[in-house]
Amino acid sequence: MKTALLFDLGAWSAGHLENVERALERWVTADAPAGVDHGAPAELVEAMRYAVLDGGKRLRPLLVMAAWEAVRGEPSVAGQHGGALRTPQNEAALRAACAVELIHAYSLVHDDMPCMDNDVLRRGKPTVHVKYGEASALLAGDALQALAFELLTPDDERMPAERQARLCRLLARAAGSAGMAGGQAIDLASVGVALTERQLRDMHRLKTGALLQASVMMGAACGDASAEALAALKSYGAAIGLAFQVVDDILDVTADSATLGKTAGKDATQDKPTYVSVLGLERSAEHAQELLAQALAALAQSGLPNTGALQGLADMVVNRSS
Ligand code: IPE
Ligand code: IPE
Ligand code: MG
Ligand code: MG
Ligand code: MG
Repeated sequence: MKTALLFDLGAWSAGHLENVERALERWVTADAPAGVDHGAPAELVEAMRYAVLDGGKRLRPLLVMAAWEAVRGEPSVAGQHGGALRTPQNEAALRAACAVELIHAYSLVHDDMPCMDNDVLRRGKPTVHVKYGEASALLAGDALQALAFELLTPDDERMPAERQARLCRLLARAAGSAGMAGGQAIDLASVGVALTERQLRDMHRLKTGALLQASVMMGAACGDASAEALAALKSYGAAIGLAFQVVDDILDVTADSATLGKTAGKDATQDKPTYVSVLGLERSAEHAQELLAQALAALAQSGLPNTGALQGLADMVVNRSS
């Protein structure tokens, strides 16, 4: 079943993608902060930029912007005209969008290392450790994680300390042992293990779902949503977060490396439990559609008037081909 959506996601995404790309380009640099007379080592910054720039679907930043737009309740200027309206809250959302992408990029750098998935291809390029060596890949990941939190805490009174703290808390929780890092630990411990569907779901919720859900909640945290709307967005984030990894498991089997920009067929080779290995292809695809329906139902209950982009992104998560 495909959902028919009137919202033009391509047109909406274009402006946001441009803004996010420009902001990442500006923020992941060797420039020392004002008043500091030494910059970062050029090689480390080069590895960080290699990991972040020029590649990736930027789904997490788009979710931040879409959730911010939903709680703000008016269409996005950036999405329509490609230019950012410079309000403090738009600036906070752009910082949140980039911060989540930096955590994601760091997670990919470490995920690909020989001690984890041992992958040589990512976003259509050699992985960071292949290009720069393992120690540099480790440090680039570390530094990207730190930079994410630096982005969320500008020395700027227009971004209130309380909002900064809320954004940091959401991101830290989703990235840490109760989120992505915890899920990755379970993933590594599960090689060759026959997980139950429930165990698999819990693993996927942590390793991938948490950061996607946090993207939604961070976008919402840039505004002042009602408790009812926040609860609905949380359910939406949980559904698409899990759906994303279900589809990642499916594409690992059904797509080729050129389309994915990463090595296809790795999960079976490495004996990883996945939705495909536990439920089979057909049932996994059905489950992804069920999760899409759950996500859309949550949005319908949110009471938010402006959820077109969130609907479109949910559809993209489930019906994507790469
Ligand atoms: C891949 O994420 C890693 C998972 C969490 C499954 P994406 O498919 O979003 O990777 P990019 O950012 O587009 O490269
Ligand atoms: C990785 O899951 C999730 C992360 C937290 C990076 P995978 O190992 O399945 O991601 P890919 O398939 O390598 O992108
Ligand atoms: Mg992995
Ligand atoms: Mg991997
Ligand atoms: Mg995968």
